[in-house]
Amino acid sequence: MKENFLALVLAAGEGTRFKSDRIKVLHTLMGKSMLRLVLDCIFKLRPEKIYVVVGYQKEAVMKEAQSEKIGFVIQRRQLGTAHAVLAAKEILKKESNKNLLIVNADLPLLRKETLKPFLDLHKKEGNSLTFLSADVNNPTGFGRVLRSGDKIEKIIEEKDASASQRKIKEINAGVYLFRIKDLLKALPKVSNQNKKGEYYLTDVIEILINQDKKVGLYKASRPEEVIGINDRYELAKAVEILRERKIKSLAEDGVTVYDPSTTWIDLDVKIGRDTTIYSSAIIEGKSVIGNQCQIYPFVHIIDCKIGDRVKILSSTMIEGSRIKDEAQVGPFTHFRPKTVVQEGAKVGNFVELKNTVFGKKSKAGHLTYLGDCKVGGKVNIGAGTITCNYDGFKKHRTLIEEGAFIGSGTELVAPVRVGKNAYVGAGSTISKNVSSESLAVSRSRQVEKPGWMRKKDKRKKKR
Ligand code: UD1
Ligand code: CA
Repeated sequence: MKENFLALVLAAGEGTRFKSDRIKVLHTLMGKSMLRLVLDCIFKLRPEKIYVVVGYQKEAVMKEAQSEKIGFVIQRRQLGTAHAVLAAKEILKKESNKNLLIVNADLPLLRKETLKPFLDLHKKEGNSLTFLSADVNNPTGFGRVLRSGDKIEKIIEEKDASASQRKIKEINAGVYLFRIKDLLKALPKVSNQNKKGEYYLTDVIEILINQDKKVGLYKASRPEEVIGINDRYELAKAVEILRERKIKSLAEDGVTVYDPSTTWIDLDVKIGRDTTIYSSAIIEGKSVIGNQCQIYPFVHIIDCKIGDRVKILSSTMIEGSRIKDEAQVGPFTHFRPKTVVQEGAKVGNFVELKNTVFGKKSKAGHLTYLGDCKVGGKVNIGAGTITCNYDGFKKHRTLIEEGAFIGSGTELVAPVRVGKNAYVGAGSTISKNVSSESLAVSRSRQVEKPGWMRKKDKRKKKR
């Protein structure tokens, strides 16, 4: 069931304190943009629709937010947060009996658990406006909540505050719930006569109070949640909090993470019960890891799907690949995208696979490159085997059928096929297909010259 409110996310500002070529709200934390995190949080509250105010780099912002449940409003010049809301005036006019949740887009730590009671309070108190506040240790940069006694008076922005007002530790979080009718009446009264010369949305609070409208606030119990990200250091601090949250939620679901301070697990990553993650592992993107896996130190996983009881040994880097149940990978293994390792296979030291399906219970233990290759079950790939898959113009495929044995130091010049249960002698350069069950050896025959060294010595002495 949908609640009776709309949401408006303010994301038109550049975020100059980031000193970046990219708009602030598209910077990412643990694999997700600031904007996406805010939108995901609001989605959980089930508004009727979310509008995003865009301006600076609007094409990129719209691309990131794109969804049928999201509408866009363009603010051509960024003249302040009240001005940003005014950009949505025409839409809001048609919905004047509803409520509007306004959220600054630089609040990636916001949680539904905080916003839900905030929405409930607004309804319960029948407020014209309810806003979110928090008591913080360092209020620098925030708007402060001014009160006389218990009564809220107004919000004063940092730049316009006196020295004594700056000591106030209760800050405005940048999250508001308005009765749209009242908001629309108050907005045109906002002026830009302040230190920044901007139209402040926060001025609406005093305007509504002067009109005897009911203004309430909800104080967030966890102040870290409402920290607006204005620069890259604040971003790093927010990442720390998100990382902690992710690891805590994994732990609650039965995942062991030995060293949270060195482990990085992106927010979208899913990990099953009884899986253990050792220190300094990095797991990124939309990776999914099954139950009872062991992920050893310095493993880097990007967008991989990993089954149950898989072991990934130290210093392995795998991307866009799939590893099925009970396989073992590493140490020092590299999978480039589109690699599939079937059940129970072993891929070991200094082996690189690319766009390769590696069969059930097959083994490639040492120093091997397989590219554009299909390997059947129970194949043994000897140390130093290399597919020569690129002829300088095109990539070609190699097929190694079930049960084949590839001796060490073999070069497989693609396109080529090694048949079922065939045997390739060590050191061969295979450029023609090998039929099933046969032996192929292509190295030159060994030549031996008895006593050659002794004769050589005699020649030396003669000279
Ligand atoms: C704002 C609040 C401040 C509060 C703080 C919380 C105002 C005037 N001040 O300050 O009281 O403590 O957030 O983090 O609102 N934006 C637009 N168009 C504009 C200007 C801004 O869309 O013309 C967007 C920005 O992209 C940003 C959000 O509004 O996502 C807030 O703007 P920002 O400049 O970060 O406001 P603060 O100075 O942090
Ligand atoms: Ca801000």
